[in-house]
Amino acid sequence: MQSPAGKSGPDSAPDSGPDSSSKPAFVGIAKLADLPEGQQLSVYVGLKKVLLCRAGDRVFAMRDMCPHALQPLLGSKVENGVIKCQKHGATFDLVSGRPTNGVTNAALEIYAVNLRDESIAVAVR
Ligand code: FES
Repeated sequence: MQSPAGKSGPDSAPDSGPDSSSKPAFVGIAKLADLPEGQQLSVYVGLKKVLLCRAGDRVFAMRDMCPHALQPLLGSKVENGVIKCQKHGATFDLVSGRPTNGVTNAALEIYAVNLRDESIAVAVR
C-alpha cells in the first residue's frame, strides 16, 4: 500500500497486525522542521537513498534514483504533483511513481509516509 501523503489514516498507520510481516515498517528518518516547504532531503535508509520532498503540508518519499538512467533525483523540480528528473527530463507522478512523459516507461519507487509528532517516518521496501 502506498500513501505518500502526510496525513494520518488507515493507509499510513504503522503496521501492527498479525499479517504485517510482509509489509515494510515505518522508520523515522527526519524531523518535519528539517524539511521546509518546497525543500528536499536525501537520506539513506539501509542501503537505499530516499528522497523526501515537501509540497505544502504534504511530504512525498521516493527512491533517490531515477529509473531511466539511475541518476539521483535530489534537486529535481517538483511541481503540480510530479517530479522532473534534472538529467533527461523524465517526469513521474509523486503519488503513483508512474512516468508521465515518454522518456522512460519505468516507474519511480514511491514509499508510504507517516507524519506524527513532527517526525517523518517512511516505509521503505
Ligand atoms: S536519468 Fe532521469 S531522465 Fe534520464
